[in-house]
Amino acid sequence: MQIDLTDRVAVVTGSTRGIGRAIAETLAECGATVAVVGRDLARAEAAAAEIGRGARGFAADIADVAQATKLIEDVEAALGRVDVLVNNAGLTRDNLLMRLKDDDWDAVIDANLRGAFATTRAATRGMMKRRWGRVINIASVVGITGNKGQANYAASKAGLIGLTKSVAKELASRNILANVVAPGFIATDMTAAMTEEAKKGMAGMIPLERFGTPQDIAGTVAFLASPLAGYITGQVFVVDGGMVM
Ligand code: NAI
Repeated sequence: MQIDLTDRVAVVTGSTRGIGRAIAETLAECGATVAVVGRDLARAEAAAAEIGRGARGFAADIADVAQATKLIEDVEAALGRVDVLVNNAGLTRDNLLMRLKDDDWDAVIDANLRGAFATTRAATRGMMKRRWGRVINIASVVGITGNKGQANYAASKAGLIGLTKSVAKELASRNILANVVAPGFIATDMTAAMTEEAKKGMAGMIPLERFGTPQDIAGTVAFLASPLAGYITGQVFVVDGGMVM
């Protein structure tokens, strides 16, 4: 059995690189028409051209509610509708609680949580009318476990889990399913800054003894967007090589 997303339009935020890029590529390979979203239009268009299969590039700073809302309107105008929304854009501004600045709190909550709220509110309007939709939010295992030095990031990801479960309950009757994928340590720009020692220490905590790849996350997202996952909503899928059990 193959995952078939033919005739589906998918929006993936933060998809010019890293996990979002792998998600966009995989959804396109499964037949979806993908809206590649970044803050820089030229970069988003370049990524969409590389992905091919009808993918289109769009610019939006997700942290800005007006831009996040307009993004969905722009995709609907260009591609007809939004069937699958993947809220992947995210950032970290790590610091110990005592040193965490108000700006670091706001920047992370605005991009990781408020942005997902804004795109979800905008995209589910059309999904409700069509009585079909999938919202897939990329959180993190630290949204479940918490983490030293990441109070803002962990709070944003925990908030994303609460948002997802609420959307799942509210919109199930319209056949809109909402789920979370919570990655562990995935090798991307976000984790590249870690020291070799820190990376070794982390790998030692992972039963599968390696960092994950963006493709490990993309496969789970494609499954959740597909007809195979039609009876799953409000769930958190931890994809972390067994680190958190
Ligand atoms: P990344 O830093 O390589 O990519 C994040 C993307 O989001 C970038 O393209 C960035 O430009 C975009 N982005 C950030 N703020 C944005 C904004 N305000 N508006 C529009 N785009 C914005 O990071 P990575 O690793 O690919 O992360 C993707 C998602 O996965 C994030 O939500 C991250 O929190 C989550 N995640 C990553 C883990 C990892 O180990 N790499 C672990 C757990 C979760």
